[in-house]
This record gives sequence, C-alpha cells and structure tokens, in this order.
Amino acid sequence: MTSPEPTDIFTRSWSLYDLLTEYNYMFHKEIYQEIGELLKLRGDQGYYRLLDLGCGNARYLAPCLKQAAPALYEGVDLSEAALTEARGYLADLPGQVILTHGDLLEAMESTEKTWNVIFTGFAIHHLMPDEKIRFFHAAGRCLSENGWLILVDVVREEHQDRESYLNRYLKFMRETWTKVPQDQLEEACAHVHDHDYPECLSTLREMAAGAGLRSTRLISRYAQHHTLLFSRSILEKV
Ligand SMILES: C[S@@+](CC[C@H](N)C(=O)[O-])C[C@H]1O[C@@H](n2cnc3c(N)ncnc32)[C@H](O)[C@@H]1O
Repeated sequence: MTSPEPTDIFTRSWSLYDLLTEYNYMFHKEIYQEIGELLKLRGDQGYYRLLDLGCGNARYLAPCLKQAAPALYEGVDLSEAALTEARGYLADLPGQVILTHGDLLEAMESTEKTWNVIFTGFAIHHLMPDEKIRFFHAAGRCLSENGWLILVDVVREEHQDRESYLNRYLKFMRETWTKVPQDQLEEACAHVHDHDYPECLSTLREMAAGAGLRSTRLISRYAQHHTLLFSRSILEKV
C-alpha cells in the first residue's frame, strides 16, 4: 500500500480540520486576531496584493481581509474541497479573488506578479528542508520591496529533534484535544506523525536571510504555534 500524501487528510474532507479549529486547539482565534491587526498596520488597504499559500478554506483569514481589504487576493491549495468552501468565505471581499488549485511551491516559483504580502498558515511544515529553502527564495523573488512574508506555523525548539518534537506535540494533542472523537483524533495524530517536519526558529531565520529577508519578527507564540514576520529590512511600524 502506498503511504498517503501530506495533504490527503485535507483533500478527502475538510471537516476534521474545521472541527479542530472550531475548538481553537491550534490557537486560530488569537493568531488570526493578530493577523488582522498586522494587515491594518500596513496602511495600504484597498491597494495591496496578498498571496495565501495553503489557504485551505480561508475561513479565518477572510475576516482579517474584510478589515484590511487587498486589491487582489490569490489563494493556492491542493484541496478542491477546501477551495470550494473558500469561495464562500471570500465572497464579500471588494477586491479581485483568485483561487488556484495547485502546489504552493510551483505557484510561487512561477508567479509573475509582485506581492505585497505573502501569507501562509500551517502549511510550510509539510515541506522538506530543501523545499523550504526554495520557498524562501521564491518569496524573496516575488515580494515587493516593502513586502511582508507572514508565516504561521508549528516550530521546533532549538536543539529539539523531530522525534522529541513529535512526542511532545502528540502528547499535547491527546491531552488537550479532548472534544475530538477518538477515531478522528487518532487520524489527526497519524497525519502529524507522518507528515509534519517543522524547523526551529534559527533555521527558518537562516533560510529567510539566505533569500534576502534579513529581518524577522516573532509576532506571537502559543505553545508550538508561532507567527513570524519576515521582511527585507527592519520594520518600524510593527
Ligand atoms: C493545516 S491547513 C491550514 C489552512 C489555513 N491556512 C489555516 O491557517 O488554517 C494546511 C493547508 O495547506 C494545504 N497544503 C499543504 N501542502 C500544500 C502544497 N504543497 N501545496 C498547496 N497546498 C498545500 C493543505 O491542503 C491544507 O489546506
């Protein structure tokens, strides 16, 4: 039997992930509140272009975009089921909305547009280290001069190997995600065990700096769930 792909859990059905986020087990409420505030700080509402990589159904980003509307939003995801829902969540945005079914790395590496904000939520940890390097290089290439890369993701502690990270995260899931039915919880645990390859903060910083994004801000951290902002130069407003 071939092993499932990292995105199978999202391609088959979107309901399990929606359930986890409904209970706020991954801190979506706090994180996306901060993303809304961050986007407003840019001061280019109505004019900027935002690329959302691994957008899922965009359920949590959509309200942020209503507060700070982009002129163009493009969401990229491998899950058709998620994109179908995203169409509904993004329906009221005043600007142009494009939803692309495809691989996020390919989309970034082939885009001919310049983006003011590249956003990615809980998707990059599925990439292998060489793919993460490609991800940062592609971001460095297609971000505008004052562009922001906002990365929300799970991050390993410094000097923590993947196995210790997984042991800790799976323990956190089994101890705190108590409202998820047992069989679905085990499905989520298997997905994390087989497909999560988070990096530590210093590695992400190095990869970003190698691509010309020399400034990193840690916006927030809730357990392993981090929000990071990368840019070419130091940001005064943030
Ligand atoms: C955990 S969900 C996150 C959804 C949303 N961004 C959020 O913050 O809640 C990860 C999403 O990334 C997508 N994804 C993972 N790897 C991808 C890839 N290589 N290309 C495109 N989408 C990908 C999955 O299909 C899924 O919709």
